[in-house]
Amino acid sequence: MADLKYEVRPMVKEDVPQVLDVWKETGMQEGTHCLYTWLEVDPEGFQVAVTDSGEILGVCCAIIHHDDLAFIGIYCVRKKHRGLGIGYKVWNACMEHSGTRNAALNAVPGKLELYRDRGGFPVVESEWVCLVNETHESVHPENLSDIVPDGVEIQDFHESHLPLIYKYDLHLIGYNRELALKLNCQEQDSKSFVAIKDGACVGFGTIKMSCQEAGQVGPLYANDSSVAEVLLKKLVLSLPQAKGFAMMTISTNVPANELIKKIGCPMTEECPRLYRKEKLNVDVSKVFAHFDLNFSPF
Ligand SMILES: CC(C)(COP(=O)(O)OP(=O)(O)OC[C@H]1O[C@@H](n2cnc3c(N)ncnc32)[C@H](O)[C@@H]1OP(=O)(O)O)[C@@H](O)C(=O)NCCC(=O)NCCS
Repeated sequence: MADLKYEVRPMVKEDVPQVLDVWKETGMQEGTHCLYTWLEVDPEGFQVAVTDSGEILGVCCAIIHHDDLAFIGIYCVRKKHRGLGIGYKVWNACMEHSGTRNAALNAVPGKLELYRDRGGFPVVESEWVCLVNETHESVHPENLSDIVPDGVEIQDFHESHLPLIYKYDLHLIGYNRELALKLNCQEQDSKSFVAIKDGACVGFGTIKMSCQEAGQVGPLYANDSSVAEVLLKKLVLSLPQAKGFAMMTISTNVPANELIKKIGCPMTEECPRLYRKEKLNVDVSKVFAHFDLNFSPF
């Protein structure tokens, strides 16, 4: 195994099914089609280690969100090839791609020190951590309310909602994510809903099939927890073929974590947020579920 021959190169579309299979081996969640979305957002954003025969051994990404921000994720190596220096090579290729801009990542339990002390991510978010909520069992959307505040309507996503979603998202997140949002809402095996009040978007959400066959919710953003609750109910009911449920919340968003309890999903892991240079300032009370957890800071 010591003379395993491989190269590190940017991931291409054709690699996605194999990359997803490598990630699946970690037991962690990710959408089945969102890698295509983020690859389109940043065509050089993913790096893979590949043998001469085309076997993918490991992957990492640094998705460039804008001139001053990248997000690092999907860092993994096939179990049987770990500890041989492969991970660090794909990681370094991603660090090179992200340049000197600020960057963010979520550390799985046990990896905080590695990234903070040796990986170049010294800034740890101190106000909150990301909570992984997941189960392979069915959840109980029937426990959620479907009463929306006066004047709010929940609509099935339609292309005509995109300008409204863009406006809402820009106001919440602070930079343009139009391409990612559009592709997210068009992903295969996904369903999105939009909350509209007086012709404006006041929340939206997506559920997608994950590589572990769970219904993964994210993003789920809303001005108000009663809107988030109805959106969540509709999302879960819209993907009955899912075996289980997954949603990443923020520890300080108490109403979001109450919703998780209501549907009977356990919180399974706490993942600290780290930055290369500085924390991002977003109103997390409106973030009920992270967007794709490997590719975007919120
Ligand atoms: C984390 C993971 C990708 C590392 O890959 P790997 O190929 O086993 O790691 P390497 O063999 O390249 O590590 C070589 C050295 O680089 C270090 N290293 C690896 N990644 C590093 C990073 N991001 N920053 C700094 N150092 C790093 C290792 O600690 C190791 O140091 P050592 O020789 O002092 O022990 C791999 O263990 C894995 O797939 N784990 C499961 C998935 C996971 O937890 N991913 C992290 C999600 S946050």
